[in-house]
Amino acid sequence: MSAPKRVGVVGYPVKHSRSPMIFEHWFGRYGIDARYDRIEVKPEDGEAFFATLADSDLAGVNVTMPHKAVAARHAKLDDAGRRLGAINTLWRDGAAMAGTSSDGSGFLKSLDAQAPAWRGRGAALVLGAGGAAVSVADALAAEGVAVRIANRTEAKAKELADLVDGEVVAWDRLPDALAETALLVNATSLGMTGSGPLDIDLSPLPAQATVADLVYYPLETPLLRDARARGFAAVDGLGMLLYQATVGFERWFGMEPAVDDELRRVLLATF
Ligand code: ATR
Repeated sequence: MSAPKRVGVVGYPVKHSRSPMIFEHWFGRYGIDARYDRIEVKPEDGEAFFATLADSDLAGVNVTMPHKAVAARHAKLDDAGRRLGAINTLWRDGAAMAGTSSDGSGFLKSLDAQAPAWRGRGAALVLGAGGAAVSVADALAAEGVAVRIANRTEAKAKELADLVDGEVVAWDRLPDALAETALLVNATSLGMTGSGPLDIDLSPLPAQATVADLVYYPLETPLLRDARARGFAAVDGLGMLLYQATVGFERWFGMEPAVDDELRRVLLATF
């Protein structure tokens, strides 16, 4: 009998990662003999870990802070990985490792699932310029969507706008920008339990607009509640978290796993 396939998430800290719950749910559902470990690798040990990953017993890994950039230096990168210089999913490719950043593609899959009419409607406005905003803005730009960025710290907005060939919108000019926005994405931490509120008036948005929030705790943020009350298509942040995980699963086990209500319930029970 062969040993179970071993995969996992590499980070520091990694104790609180919810990825094992997602993968164990799929292992049970599809009868796959595998284990998904939390692999704690200290920041100073990242280089050595990824340099020798291909020689280990791991079939592949997800990567979280602080190792996404070092992982990218030890893998054959796809387009998204090359553009971002940081990856969160690695798999075996011959004798070496290959990798991608699955957050952006996970976000697009989540939009397609929860608001399929979003495509072809017009420009996106991304609020925020941190790691999550970079992945989302990059994925949208790669799909040919015109991207605008607004961020409290405008220098970071400028940096991201340059990366995605987009425009900066000053934080205090949001109302004007909303009138020309087909897809509004909150990629700041505002609206998350314990953070401040995202104070934004959605009334200038066109009627066909879609509103997406990357915050998933609470699942229905004040922004999404307001968007739904106004009749906009609304996309919650849990979708991105779950769909980004499907990318590794597909690479390691050769099939696309389902993101359905049962999996959403499993994850929600952990909050
Ligand atoms: P992540 O990796 O999840 O994107 P992050 O890199 O810490 O997290 O980014 C958090 C984002 O939320 C940033 O865009 C941040 O704005 P700054 O670049 O100005 O820090 C934004 N953010 C956090 N608190 C905020 C607040 N009170 N008002 C406006 N934006 C805020």
